[in-house]
Amino acid sequence: MNAAGDVAPRSCRPTSIGEAAGRGGAASGAAAPVALVVDAATKVYGAGADRVLALEGCGFEVRAREIVSIVGPSGCGKTTLLWSMAGLHHLTSGAIRLDGAVIDGPHPAIGIVFQEANLLPWRTLDANIRFPDEIKRRRSDEGLIENLLRQVGLAGYGPRFPRELSGGMQQRVAIVRALAQRPSLLLMDEPFGALDAFTREEMNRLVERIWLDTHTTIVLVTHSIDEAILLSDRVIVLSPRPGRVARIFDVPLPRPRTPEIMAGRAVFELASAIRSEIVGARTSLAAEGAVGSPKGEG
Ligand SMILES: Nc1ncnc2c1ncn2[C@@H]1O[C@H](COP(=O)(O)OP(=O)(O)OP(=O)(O)O)[C@@H](O)[C@H]1O
Ligand SMILES: [Mg+2]
Repeated sequence: MNAAGDVAPRSCRPTSIGEAAGRGGAASGAAAPVALVVDAATKVYGAGADRVLALEGCGFEVRAREIVSIVGPSGCGKTTLLWSMAGLHHLTSGAIRLDGAVIDGPHPAIGIVFQEANLLPWRTLDANIRFPDEIKRRRSDEGLIENLLRQVGLAGYGPRFPRELSGGMQQRVAIVRALAQRPSLLLMDEPFGALDAFTREEMNRLVERIWLDTHTTIVLVTHSIDEAILLSDRVIVLSPRPGRVARIFDVPLPRPRTPEIMAGRAVFELASAIRSEIVGARTSLAAEGAVGSPKGEG
């Protein structure tokens, strides 16, 4: 037992899933294989006076069908890590592997949703959703797309243009576009950060429903601790830059996570523990004078 009551935060070091999973949410059954391995990921941008050490020796594993959130102070390397997972950044050292294969470029089994929906404004929603298939010169799965549009409440909107949709609706299209590729891993970087609180909660519920249906492995970067708890089996807290795993929290709550569950004491205590971990790391660095230095490479 700890501050979070029935939740046992892991120690402050890169954690093997062998220790951390199993007590998590509904997905992390003991049998699920490891899907994603982040192995001592280190990323340096630039050189000389412009050198920035964004990630250093960051390591953890994600099991198939898990939802894992990554949280941490602004600038700690979350986007760098997610882009590296997507093969959009090359690591300086270390490796990221999906189902045993090193990720060294864009991968057909990996879908990504960014903070902005990034829809092509001159294309209808239908044409936006099918764009990745056009590039790959393959036939779209029409049944799947229809089903996904229905699930996100946008059935019949296919002929519309992005400008005719609200931000939340556009983001739902971006999720459909990613899921229509049947990714085995879905990466999301602050996907709902630009939305108002109500729409954001709706979108969280939508992701939860989609996950209950598809059980796609998801890695989510978020600034919202509530969002992380609502959606995740585990929450990974990164240290201030250079990003390393500071601590991993299990979220041993049943799904769906109803408003009653989310208003309960276990969630309150877990949220407090996660917040303290983030704030505590920042405060101790500030005391050492590391926060505020241009490179902050502590
Ligand atoms: N392309 C780049 N070139 C140089 N430095 C970069 C680049 N991308 C990110 N950085 C730096 O790397 C560090 C980590 O950035 P990153 O965007 O990964 O942080 P983050 O945790 O996603 O931040 P936020 O929470 O604000 O989105 C920052 O200091 C940032 O300035
Ligand atoms: Mg970011």
